[in-house]
Amino acid sequence: MKVEFYGHVRQYNNIKAEIDANMAQVIQSGQFVLGPMLKRFEAEFAAYNGAKHAIGVGNGTDAIWLALMALGIGPGDECITHANTFFATAEAVWIAGATAVLVDCDPKTKCIDPAKIEAAITPRTKAIIPVHLYGQCADMKAIRKIADKHKLLVIEDNAQAIGAHGNGFKVGQLSDATATSFIIQKNLGTFGDGGAIVTNNSAIDTRVRVLRNHGSSARNVHSFGFNSRLDDIHAAILSAKLKHIDAWNDLRRARSARYTAGLKAARHITLPYEVPGGRHVFHLYVIETKDPAKRDGLLKLLNDSGVDAKTHYSIAIHQQAGFPWGKQARLAGPLPNAELNAASCISLPMFPELTENEADFVIEKVLAWDKAQPA
Ligand SMILES: Cc1ncc(COP(=O)(O)O)c(C=O)c1O
Repeated sequence: MKVEFYGHVRQYNNIKAEIDANMAQVIQSGQFVLGPMLKRFEAEFAAYNGAKHAIGVGNGTDAIWLALMALGIGPGDECITHANTFFATAEAVWIAGATAVLVDCDPKTKCIDPAKIEAAITPRTKAIIPVHLYGQCADMKAIRKIADKHKLLVIEDNAQAIGAHGNGFKVGQLSDATATSFIIQKNLGTFGDGGAIVTNNSAIDTRVRVLRNHGSSARNVHSFGFNSRLDDIHAAILSAKLKHIDAWNDLRRARSARYTAGLKAARHITLPYEVPGGRHVFHLYVIETKDPAKRDGLLKLLNDSGVDAKTHYSIAIHQQAGFPWGKQARLAGPLPNAELNAASCISLPMFPELTENEADFVIEKVLAWDKAQPA
C-alpha cells in the first residue's frame, strides 16, 4: 500500500461539479481580477470567520506583511513570534522591514509560549504574531493580556487553523487582524497560491485593499502599493470548498483520533497534545520521537514502507544556514523546545479523504518500528 501525504485530487473529484460550476461562472463573466467572484468569496469568508472584513490577497505570506504594513509596522519596530513556525512568519516581518524576535515554543502545544513573551518585549516592540501551529490555537487569552498590558498589536498567523477555536475564544476575536493562507495543502486550499486578511478593523480593511492593488482605490489614481490580489478563479474554488470546511475538519479530527488510539501504547514517540476545550483541526498530525536521534530512522522506515511522512519543520528558523541574511533578528533567550521539536518531529499523512485503512497501515508501520526499538 502507498499512503500519500495529501488528498488534493481526491478532494477535487469528490466535489468536482461544484468547483467546475464556480470556475465556469468566472470564465463566462470575463472578470478575473477584483471581480464579482472575489467579492462574493470575501463576504462568505468574513461571515465564516464572524468578522466584518476579509480581503483576498496573493498568498499567506503577503497576508501577514500587508497586515503589518497596514498597521504601520516597519523599520525600527520589533515583532515577536516563535522559531518553530513555518519560515514565512518571520519572512513577512522582514518584508515589512521590521525585526523578528524569536521566542521559544510551549513544549506541549508547540505554539508560542506566552510565558516567554514578556521578557522579549522592548520599547521597540510593536506586535506579537502567534501562529496556530499544526491546526491548534495558540493561547490567545494569555497573549491578549500581555498585549493589553504593553499596548501591543496582535496579528494571528492562521495559515494552518481555519475552523479551529480555542478554549473560550474564536480565531480573530482577540487580535487586530488574522492572516490566512490558501495554498493548496492548507485545510482550505486553492489550486495554487492564495491568502486573506480577516479583521473587524475598518481602517485595516481600507488600507490593505489599497496596498494590495498598486496603492489604488480608483482607476488611474495610485499611491505606494503592491500587486497582491486573490484571483477570481481561486475565489471560485475556495467558495465551493468553504461549504465543506467544517465537515472536512471533522474528518481530520476523526482520523487524528484513530491515529491517537492506535499509537497510544507506543513507548518511543510522543503524540500531539490537544488543549482541552479547544477545537484542533489537525492541519498536521505531528508526532515526535522521544529520542531525537531516532527521528530520521523512523522517517526513513515510513517512507521506505510507502508512507509519505514528512517533517514540519526540521530546521527551526534561527537554525537555517546564513540566518538572518543581513535582516534584523533577535533570539529572546535560548530556544530548547523549538530546537527539540525541529529535531524530533514527524508529520503523518493527514487529510480529510485519508481512509481508515490507510490510517491503520500507517499505525502498523509506526508500531512495528516502536516494537523494534530497544527498551
Ligand atoms: C504558519 C504559516 N505561515 C505562513 C504561511 C505562508 O503562506 P503562503 O505559503 O500562502 O505564503 C504558511 C504556509 O505556507 C504557514 O504554514
